[in-house]
Amino acid sequence: MKIVHITDTHFVPQPATLYGLDPRARFDAAIASLQAEHSDADLLVITGDLAHWGEVPAYQALRQRLEAVTIPVVMMVGNHDDRASLRTVFPAVMDDGNGFVQGSRIESGHRLMFLDTKCEGTHAGAYCEKRRAWLADELAKGDEPVLLFMHHPPFLSGISSMDAIGQLDADALWLVLQPHARRIRHIFLGHVHRPISGNWHGISFSLIPGLNHQVPLQLAPHGEDIPGSHEPPAYSVISVGPDSIVVHLKYFLDGSRRFPLDGYEVKGRAYALGFPACEG
Ligand SMILES: [Fe+2]
Repeated sequence: MKIVHITDTHFVPQPATLYGLDPRARFDAAIASLQAEHSDADLLVITGDLAHWGEVPAYQALRQRLEAVTIPVVMMVGNHDDRASLRTVFPAVMDDGNGFVQGSRIESGHRLMFLDTKCEGTHAGAYCEKRRAWLADELAKGDEPVLLFMHHPPFLSGISSMDAIGQLDADALWLVLQPHARRIRHIFLGHVHRPISGNWHGISFSLIPGLNHQVPLQLAPHGEDIPGSHEPPAYSVISVGPDSIVVHLKYFLDGSRRFPLDGYEVKGRAYALGFPACEG
């Protein structure tokens, strides 16, 4: 199974830009890259913060651009999204029966679960009793291996401003997941706008950069003012095999030079040492 993961697209109504960047142009570039190189993927998952202010025209701009995507798409919500506005533009978006934008599906023998961690009135994440009950019921439906997708990370990143708006009730979420921990193979995340990997309670995770703006690596305590940056955006390409899950970051705006590294073996040290520093 091959999955493409995009997060934090932060669409704004055109022609507006956001923090000096154009989220629509970046999404177009990401989709062009995906279609050129990864149109054999089984699924594209966008893990929330689809629109920066949750506005209908922003979701309309996203819908227009998704017409270029030829693989199935799953759209999730983050703290910046508005469920009602999203449903106005995408009436078929996931619904768990309680109005939350979450669902699960079987793909290549795996149960893919898409959780809605948005908490009204705050940028922090929460996973209330109703959602936890839904999750427990879904997990009880079978014993397939599970891939979890959610916007807010349930662990502390060490970036104080983002941790202040992290998943507030991660312990309660873990109590639901814990009985199934051995079948949960990986968690795919957004929200922090950085490449971060590791594990939570022994379950591996990957958190990827946003598609528009980023959050710089600032591990010194800095309160609740979130720093921003123009570090490069990326999406990830995920290969799910029987014994491994491999996550590659694709810096789709990178236009830097490509060249063979094996010249050293063929041509000797002179090839590598004599490489023109500023060429290309
Ligand atoms: Fe975001």
